[in-house]
Amino acid sequence: MLMSLALSTTVTVLLCLLGFRKCSGASAWTLKGKIVSGEHWLDDEGGIIQAHGGSMLFHNQTYFWYGENKDAPTEWRSWKMPDQEWWYTRTPALGISCYSSSDLLNWHNEGMALKADGSHEDLEAGQTLERPRVLYNNLTQQFVMWVHVDDAGYSLCRLGMAVSAAPTGPFRYQGSMQANDQRNGDFTLFKEDNGTAYVVTASQKQSMDPRFMLLHELSIDFQRVLPNPFRILPPLDRESPVLFKYEAHYFLLTSGSTFWSPNAAEIFTARALEGPYASWGNPCHGEPMDQHGITFSSQASFAIPLQAPGAPGHFLIMADRWQSNDLKESTYVWLPLHISLRVQKPLQLVSKSGEAANDDNEDPGQDEAVRLTAVRRIALEWRSAWDPHSGLNLPGTSLKYREGRSRVHRLPVAFVARYGSYIHGPEPPDAGLNKG
Ligand code: GAL
Repeated sequence: MLMSLALSTTVTVLLCLLGFRKCSGASAWTLKGKIVSGEHWLDDEGGIIQAHGGSMLFHNQTYFWYGENKDAPTEWRSWKMPDQEWWYTRTPALGISCYSSSDLLNWHNEGMALKADGSHEDLEAGQTLERPRVLYNNLTQQFVMWVHVDDAGYSLCRLGMAVSAAPTGPFRYQGSMQANDQRNGDFTLFKEDNGTAYVVTASQKQSMDPRFMLLHELSIDFQRVLPNPFRILPPLDRESPVLFKYEAHYFLLTSGSTFWSPNAAEIFTARALEGPYASWGNPCHGEPMDQHGITFSSQASFAIPLQAPGAPGHFLIMADRWQSNDLKESTYVWLPLHISLRVQKPLQLVSKSGEAANDDNEDPGQDEAVRLTAVRRIALEWRSAWDPHSGLNLPGTSLKYREGRSRVHRLPVAFVARYGSYIHGPEPPDAGLNKG
């Protein structure tokens, strides 16, 4: 009897370690105490975590992870063109899940933050709900969720919005629209240090046009998109924007546009949120080299700053390893990204309006000392198991990493001639620039 109990416990632990679903007790992930990419991750009750295309909100010392619950059968659909047919897969919307954690390793399932319960036409089961992002609004003390809303054929291309008094929901759905009259695909939210929030959308005018990135400011309550967006990338057909800030530099990590198939990431940097953004190419470095061109078989979704002691400039990149034939089996790839800065001018007095300080300025309180820096390199490196709180051992400390400036990827000359090198400030989105 004891023997068979011991045997069954060993089998259960082995199954858990191998990543099979629904084992109770500690998850494979927790047992390892590390982030292990590409495996099924279990919550504290042994359920498989369903939070794809996800994002993170850090609120009151707790991480809230929002994502697509894809625990439904994968369907095949097609778009019929006059001369060809395109096949793709999808899962009908179940809703947006929420998980909470204090350490990014152990997760508690908080249930559905927004349910596709048919209470609104966007929340019918046949619809598509993707890439939820949530911000807390200090003024209204509400949590505001934005989500990509679509039909089964991805023809609506809208953004939906929902609010809740608690981070875990239930969020009250408020409706959807096309931000600034563009077809919005993937998107993200970004909150500036001064509290202003923005939505970045991969937009297009017509369904077959290449996508370009727009930066739209949100209203003070974060519940409306304001007019006059900035076009921050020309029609390069980039998707899944991940926008984050480090030491007065803005980073925009993007994927290519290949449905669920992985492709090469491309990262852009800027000194101002509105741009101009310059491309640093694909930030994937290190082993395995044959995975660089497909972002370690994943598509980035969100960035979280890491505070590992003695390791500044580290972010955790949340990414999805999609399984297009069975989307609920998709796994997560979470990797550290390291940004290294070069000090250009050690300390300079700059007035708050941004002008260089005047020596005989009578009000020195108006000035602040800033360290002027430039980005030296950006590296996203594969780790099969790593601890987000220590042991980052990333480029900068690793001997294997080649020193020197990262190559700045240049746009084709013909492209620059047509669209300019990058941004040209606020531009009406209907300027007709995106005709191939
Ligand atoms: C990807 C997008 C995903 C999902 C998928 C559908 O390009 O990033 O969020 O929409 O297409 O095929």
